[in-house]
This record gives sequence, structure tokens and C-alpha cells, in this order.
Amino acid sequence: MAKSSTFTCTACGAVHSRWSGRCDGCGEWNSIVEEAPLTTGPKSKSLGAKRGTPIPLSDLATDEAPPPRTCSTITELDRVLGGGLVPASAILVGGDPGIGKSTLLLQAAARFAKSGLKTIYVSGEEATAQVRMRAQRLGLADAPVKLAAATSLRDILTTLEAEAPGLVIIDSIQTIWSDTVESAPGSVSQVRAAAHELTSFAKRKDVSVILVGHVTKEGQIAGPRVVEHMVDTVLYFEGERGHQFRILRAVKNRFGPADEIGVFEMTGAGLAEVANPSALFLSTRGTPSPGSVVFSGIEGTRPVLVELQALVAPTPHSQPRRAVVGWDGSRLAMILAVLESRCGIPFAGLDVYLNVAGGLKISEPAADLAVAAALLSAREDTVLPADTVVFGEISLSGALRPVGQTENRLKEARKLGFTSAIAPAGGKSTGDSGMELSLMSDLTSFVGDKFGA
Ligand code: TYD
Ligand code: MG
Repeated sequence: MAKSSTFTCTACGAVHSRWSGRCDGCGEWNSIVEEAPLTTGPKSKSLGAKRGTPIPLSDLATDEAPPPRTCSTITELDRVLGGGLVPASAILVGGDPGIGKSTLLLQAAARFAKSGLKTIYVSGEEATAQVRMRAQRLGLADAPVKLAAATSLRDILTTLEAEAPGLVIIDSIQTIWSDTVESAPGSVSQVRAAAHELTSFAKRKDVSVILVGHVTKEGQIAGPRVVEHMVDTVLYFEGERGHQFRILRAVKNRFGPADEIGVFEMTGAGLAEVANPSALFLSTRGTPSPGSVVFSGIEGTRPVLVELQALVAPTPHSQPRRAVVGWDGSRLAMILAVLESRCGIPFAGLDVYLNVAGGLKISEPAADLAVAAALLSAREDTVLPADTVVFGEISLSGALRPVGQTENRLKEARKLGFTSAIAPAGGKSTGDSGMELSLMSDLTSFVGDKFGA
């Protein structure tokens, strides 16, 4: 049977039987492209000609210690990896172009090489002289890293076979092409084939690979999501263009906790680690103003304090605007609905803007109460005391639900000079936090108590 071509979404990799303007899988517009059928596949005619022999789980040696991880000594990176680099693991680092992926990985390569791991940095985008210039600027020119400028998968694998490194960094996977695949470099099938070859090479030869993937906006180039399922660990490097803060976030990790973050600052001499992100996120905070509330959050295993800013203003439009930066828009709609229907505070005819200061993206429901507090403070034009942090989840009934790690949230707040907290009642013991606690069981009593409504 003749194989027909398929239609693949370059953003998420979903396969469709025919072209359409919008991908059903991820909702992206203009991301579906026609792909020629794969011409390669298993060469063997009869399936199962050479069978593998399964081993009983109990027969596997248990007294053998797991292979040691290698630490880059960049603490923020090692923590996101789950405590260092696992041998023979495959890692994807995705992010917008220009966010600092190459800078981060060149710095990491230098540190891994200095820790004794034989490291090769393969650049498909820059010539070796350009990479060297960057290394010089970062003060890493003497690091024992080997550089290669190559885009052909065959060349790269031959080099790796000969060099037998412990770690290889491929910058970026979208520039690598395999001569067994007919489509253009950067297409979904090329990116998939290259990622598959490199990750299986990693497992076979005990080499760790780090693949860099650009998040793409135009339709022809495949995004990093199409290879997420092939790797052990998926990290995204995020940040706002106008801010110098960069956040490395683990979204999948077979060897450590997901949702862990590492915080960096882009400086003239590369990325600097930020050991105390709370201090950094709050550093831009001026005198408290209406709509500003400090949320005591948890990112991965670490407490992080951030400022939430809200603006509520009469709308000149027939349809009021709801704009959110750094939080979930539908979650905001939910909080507004609960405030309207459970507490009788209308937001009709008012534009609502919500911003998480510093460029951090929050996904915790524990931010609900802080968001509600920011909205009310902006709407009522009142200022919450400057030394107060807020956290708690709001349910649709208007009840406040306790959240995890209360003690850590309070400890971090106290460390940064806060003296009181507004939190849900009924949580686990808050210990001897030394903070003045205002425990609330529902949103109505919170509104009455703090805003006199
Ligand atoms: P880069 O690592 O090339 O981004 P990516 O690989 O994700 O595309 O980083 C590019 C940006 O970083 C560029 O706009 C300049 C900035 N930068 C610094 O501010 N300081 C530095 O020391 C370096 C190397 C880059
Ligand atoms: Mg780059």
C-alpha cells in the first residue's frame, strides 16, 4: 500500500489526517504542515527474528549503588536536574530564541568539564570561533570543553563514537538533519529523527545528552514539544524580555521532582545564580500601594515570595477587559465570579489587570487568596499592611482551603522581614513561626475583616 503523507502540528507534534488551519491538539493556528512519509524503519523483514530475553525484576542486583550524578556546581541548575546530571540521561532545554539557552549551556558545559566529565558542545547555529568568542566573554575560554560546529547527524554521531564523551550538548536540535529523512532541517520528522537517534545513542553508549530546542512561532519549524516524550527530563528556560531574571523550570523529570525552578539573572558576563529569589522578586517593590499584595508561594521544593499587582478601573468599553501576566486567566475569572456571587462584590463595568511582578509564572492555586486580596485592595483603593503576606486556595463555595507547606511559607516570609500572614484556617500546625497569623475560614469573613465590606 502506498504511504500517504501526514499532516503534523509543528507546535505539539499531533498528527492529523488532513490539513486544517488550527490544530485540535494544542489550539495553535497555522502550525500544521504536510510531511512526507518516513522512508526509514526497521530493516528486518520478520518481526521477532532476534528476541530479547526479559530478566526477572528480582534478579537485578540491588546492592549495586546507582551511578553517581555529576554536579555542575551551578546550584540552581543541579537542583532543577534533581541533584545533578544522571549518567546516560537525555535532557531537553526549551525556550524562546534569545532567552539565554546557549549562554546557560556553555556555562554548564564549562562547569561539567571542570568537574571531570568529558564534554562536547556541538553548535549547529554558530561557528566554533563564535562560540569561543562567547566563552571568552563569559570568562570560560580556558575550560576543557571540546567544541564542534556540525549539523549533519551522521557527522555528529561519528564524532561522538570516536570521542566517547560523558556529556554532549546539541545546540539546537532544530538545526540537526539526518540524511535518512527527506524533509527539510527543522521539520517535525527531521527533529524527531535526530532526537531519537541522539537519545538512543545516549542510552547505548552511556553518554548524557542535552538538546536545546527553540520555541518557535512560525509554522515551518518544529517546536521542542515534539520531542518532549523522547527525553528523560524537560526543562524550560523562561523570562520576560524586559527583565533580567530567567527561570529554569523542570516540567518533566524522570530523576527528580518536576516543577522545581532555578533562578538566574542575565548580566553582562553571562548568567548569575540567584540564591535568594524572594529578595530579588521583592526588590522592585516600592512603597505599598493599592492593589499590591505579597504572596508566599512554593516553587518546587523552595518557598518564593512574589508581589502580585492588580489594577481595577471603570471600563470605557462595552466589554470589560481582563488581562493577566504570570497567572492563569481562567483562574482569575473564577476568583472574580466567587467574589461577585459569594461576597456580593461586583466587577461588572470594571477592567481588571493582574500582574505577577518580576516575570515569574505562578500556577499554584495557593495564590487564590492573594489574588483576591490584590483585586479587593485595588477596587476599594485601600492598602494592605506592608509587612503582611497572603496565601490560601479559594473553592467555588467561597470557603478557604488550607494549602501545603504552610510552615515553609511562613518561615520564608519571616526571614524577609514580614511579621504577619493571612492564611486559611484548619491547616496543619503552623508551628512556632513567630508570625502574627490571621486565620480565615471563608472569603466572606476575609472581606469583612480586611476590607470592611
Ligand atoms: P543566547 O544564549 O544566545 O540565547 P538563545 O541561545 O536562547 O537564543 O542569549 C542571547 C541574549 O543574551 C542576547 O540578547 C544577549 C544576552 N547576553 C547577555 O546579556 N550577557 C551575556 O554575557 C551573554 C553571553 C548574552
Ligand atoms: Mg542559542
